[in-house]
Amino acid sequence: MDEGYNTRNDFQFISIQSPADAKDRDKRRQARSHAAKKGRQQQLQYASPRDAGGTLGQTLIPWSIFAPVSAYGPFETLIGDSPKLRALLSHDAARQAAEPIFSVADPVVFQDFASVFRTDLDDPALLNAVKLTFAFAVTGGNIDQECLEYQNQAMGAIRERMDSLESALSLPTLGAILLLADLNSSVMTGSSRIVDHTTFVELQWKRDPFASTYFVLAPGFQRISHLFDEDFIEVLKDIHALQCVQDLPRYSCQNPIEMLRVDNQQASIGSRLVDLPKLSATMEACYLAAYLSACMLCCKVWRHSVMPSHVSLKLLRKLQESNDDIFWDENPDLLIWISYLGGSFSPRGVIHLEYNIILKTNHNSRFKGLYQSLEDLLEILHRYIWSEKAYRTQLEEYWKEIQLELVKHRVGMPGLSRFRGTDDHVATPMMKEYYSQRSQVPGTLIITEAGIISPGAGGYPNAPGIWREDQVAAWKTITDEVHQNGCFIICQIFHVGRAAVPDIAEKEGIEIVSSSAIPHGEGAPVPRALTVEEIKQIVHDFATAAKNAIRAGFDSVELHAGNGYLLDSFIQDVSNTRTDEYGGSIQNRSRFVSEVMKAVGDAIGPQRIGIRLSPWSTFQGMRMKEPIPQFSDVINKAKELGLAYIHLIEPRVANSDDLDHLITESLDFAINLWGGPILLAGGYKPDNVQKTVDETYPGKDIMVMFGRYFVANPDLVFRIKNNLNLNQYDRSTFYAVKNPHGYLDYPFSSEFLANTKV
Ligand SMILES: Cc1cc2nc3c(=O)[nH]c(=O)nc-3n(C[C@H](O)[C@H](O)[C@H](O)COP(=O)(O)O)c2cc1C
Repeated sequence: MDEGYNTRNDFQFISIQSPADAKDRDKRRQARSHAAKKGRQQQLQYASPRDAGGTLGQTLIPWSIFAPVSAYGPFETLIGDSPKLRALLSHDAARQAAEPIFSVADPVVFQDFASVFRTDLDDPALLNAVKLTFAFAVTGGNIDQECLEYQNQAMGAIRERMDSLESALSLPTLGAILLLADLNSSVMTGSSRIVDHTTFVELQWKRDPFASTYFVLAPGFQRISHLFDEDFIEVLKDIHALQCVQDLPRYSCQNPIEMLRVDNQQASIGSRLVDLPKLSATMEACYLAAYLSACMLCCKVWRHSVMPSHVSLKLLRKLQESNDDIFWDENPDLLIWISYLGGSFSPRGVIHLEYNIILKTNHNSRFKGLYQSLEDLLEILHRYIWSEKAYRTQLEEYWKEIQLELVKHRVGMPGLSRFRGTDDHVATPMMKEYYSQRSQVPGTLIITEAGIISPGAGGYPNAPGIWREDQVAAWKTITDEVHQNGCFIICQIFHVGRAAVPDIAEKEGIEIVSSSAIPHGEGAPVPRALTVEEIKQIVHDFATAAKNAIRAGFDSVELHAGNGYLLDSFIQDVSNTRTDEYGGSIQNRSRFVSEVMKAVGDAIGPQRIGIRLSPWSTFQGMRMKEPIPQFSDVINKAKELGLAYIHLIEPRVANSDDLDHLITESLDFAINLWGGPILLAGGYKPDNVQKTVDETYPGKDIMVMFGRYFVANPDLVFRIKNNLNLNQYDRSTFYAVKNPHGYLDYPFSSEFLANTKV
């Protein structure tokens, strides 16, 4: 059985019935091919829109998905008048080849090399390298006369170019070198290799005897060298040397003459690491971290070709597997190096998030007190393998991201609509003051009141929107203020749906809509069921609003899919009786919210999205009979898409009313389903917070949200921490439109004022 990249349920069984089958080339090829393909697909799937080339909001659409796929795939342009290459590429074995990793039949696998093969049609180095590659596949890995011929021609052409900087620097030369030195598929696919670093004389690498001072162990590894295999120690010395060369001031990663040697050194390192005995998950994590660190020291084209995301994924799994190993308790700084390296070089999305979780869960235990600042962290990383040139930028970016996620305590503020915006839905200075008051304790997480996504999505008076530029600008003053106070601010976004207030809807020309023509209560207006076309438009509006929120400086976005608003009205069968693809079954009812999660994820990255759900709430005519299967489906979809957190409302409240009957329902089903951070809200009091976090859900990453008490206590976090009495809230001012009373005048405690200079 080969599980390929067995990350989720994304693997394929390839049955092996007898020992002889294990040697069956077809089966092995099938396994390798599947693994390489899956891995590549995941890389694409998890890559964030930011990776796609800079600006936020761009969607990652690999060109190859839209490019017409010819019979020869991306090699079409190369073929020119080479009948031999045409014949090789038409060969079944070549078309299916898993090694090298480029499969002719699989354009997705191929995209990193697209530019090379598109621009240089008949380059002899490249052409012969490609011929060699596929001749290899056709002969099943036997180097015959024909292979040697291609190799000689390719190498001859490469050598000639080394005399001129311009031709040595050209993409086809680099591409040819890379094809010849494609030793890495074994690491990615976990298969046995047909090529390794000793196969070609030209690719063999030996230590330079004149540079012996570089071939030493970094101090961190020196201290624990007795724990490692001797061969591994030698590899670590080679990586150290690679890093020293990379960091030489005159060294340029663009110079292929230097890079050829460096890449060969890396190939040798990689190849030897693969051969090390796999004694434990902990050791394997160390090997993979070493592999990743060496990969990132090579030239750019190579870095892409080895697909570090695959290595970082494998590393992640080994870290998770070895999480309880005492080895990490004894060597936390090594774990810091490995986790930061893995996180910095992993693609955005699920893998990235899982690294964040590893760092966060260790933050208050194994890593406690080891580093406070970036400087402290760098000091630790320097003890192992560290390259200013190759690692610094990514590491700094990752550090910022992690810091941002390190909310300093577990008391947060949930969405609280207060209607203090302007009549045309712009945030006001009064709101800035209100959020500023509530962000006086650094490290607090604040979620804003629900923000309207588009002109037609409203129906609440003076609720702020996030579809126009003036709205974005006004929110920006608030996010700046909260950030200046050292806190985090998430923008909750929603479509009011059938809960729209009729007067407001009429005044603003909003048509009251929902999933079906079912009102939310007696006397409420009957909404019109949305058409499929309108649904698609709203999905788009959510994505635009999310992009606007990020432009306005918000740290993340929360989709309000609870309390009976539009998204919730599609999820539950009490409000959704549609018979098209958006109703009638669990899957169909989840479709709208899934599409929104996906579109918003494409727009700003799933790691910046949370979702609020109220599976048990009866507020605004909700509460289906069997919420568990339905909401489990939604949560599983959120999980698949890699959302950052879920925010759940306890069954003991209906919005902001405490229920006075016995509560038998529980959120446990949802909490158990979700592996990442969970925000809980509804009826929490200072005296039940600690118990919830420490006793009820000890293994979970829980944050407790206080609604009404945050309304009435600007210094709530301080009060809870210091066991102080709370101000009581005044319900009559909850929604007092544009009124500062009951909004800005709840007092801070005298203790807080004495402690600070508010
Ligand atoms: C005045 C007020 C406004 C609210 N507005 C929102 C909102 O905009 N979005 C939301 O998701 N929940 C909203 N809620 C619900 C709260 O976020 C929270 O779930 C509820 O108050 C229960 O928590 P608590 O018992 O701590 O008050 C609101 C609650 C109140 C009291």
